[in-house]
Amino acid sequence: MNKKVMITGANRGIGLSITKNYLNRGDEVYAFCRSPKKSKELYQLSKDNKKIKIYSLDVCSEDSIKNASKLIDDYIDIIICNAGIGSGYGGFMDDDNNQQKFLEVLNTNVVGPFLTIKYFSTKLNKVSDKKIAIISSLMGSQHHDSSNAYFYRSSKAAVNNLMVTFSNELSNQNISICSYHPGWVRTDMGGPNADLSSEESAKNLIKRFDEQSITTTGRFYNYDGKLLMI
Ligand SMILES: NC(=O)c1ccc[n+]([C@@H]2O[C@H](COP(=O)([O-])OP(=O)(O)OC[C@H]3O[C@@H](n4cnc5c(N)ncnc54)[C@H](OP(=O)(O)O)[C@@H]3O)[C@@H](O)[C@H]2O)c1
Repeated sequence: MNKKVMITGANRGIGLSITKNYLNRGDEVYAFCRSPKKSKELYQLSKDNKKIKIYSLDVCSEDSIKNASKLIDDYIDIIICNAGIGSGYGGFMDDDNNQQKFLEVLNTNVVGPFLTIKYFSTKLNKVSDKKIAIISSLMGSQHHDSSNAYFYRSSKAAVNNLMVTFSNELSNQNISICSYHPGWVRTDMGGPNADLSSEESAKNLIKRFDEQSITTTGRFYNYDGKLLMI
């Protein structure tokens, strides 16, 4: 049966590829992005396909998330928290590593998914197979020996922790939630030398989302299905 999907950060990178892949298999997508009017690729998709609806949503604004959730007049099967930023990749003494940048990363990568789940979870299909997927990063794992990217790593560690807490609270409503490492992907964030195209990453992620269930809730997976350590 066709699925109804909502995704943040749908206008470029991994989010755009996930959107295209769902549409290609006949699913419906509520594609949320900060600036719909500037999202040429999404508009192009909507010309050929009536199964995409494009709406504005800034994950750094609670009002924006709340208002966006009111635009959905139907039940959805999956919430995909994809929007994210990478900033402050250097060592702790870098000039770039300042309070404002840190708060911006946490606001986007942690507060954003929290509020998205808070306002959109009431829109999840009441019948069965209700899912939430968070695009996290292996850089959020506590099991590493790297000495850089304090802001990004801590934001993805925090969102993995949120995922576990949500899984405990939502399991009695039969809503599953997992987080995923999409691979190192050739996007604006991943850069041109990354391992995977956004198409390869998206195809694999959608397979993982299909496999997700209440029995796997609370876990952190690689795009290829390998279980990762939080
Ligand atoms: N690429 C990788 O190698 C890699 C690896 C691990 C994890 N990830 C994760 O994968 C996700 C997608 O990354 P990507 O590589 O596709 O990055 P990207 O190409 O830089 O795209 C980021 C997306 O997030 C959106 N976004 C940023 N701030 C937002 C906000 N405040 N409100 C709404 N949307 C916002 C951007 O929208 P605008 O166009 O409006 O800026 C854009 O659509 C992120 O969570 C990232 O951390 C990526």
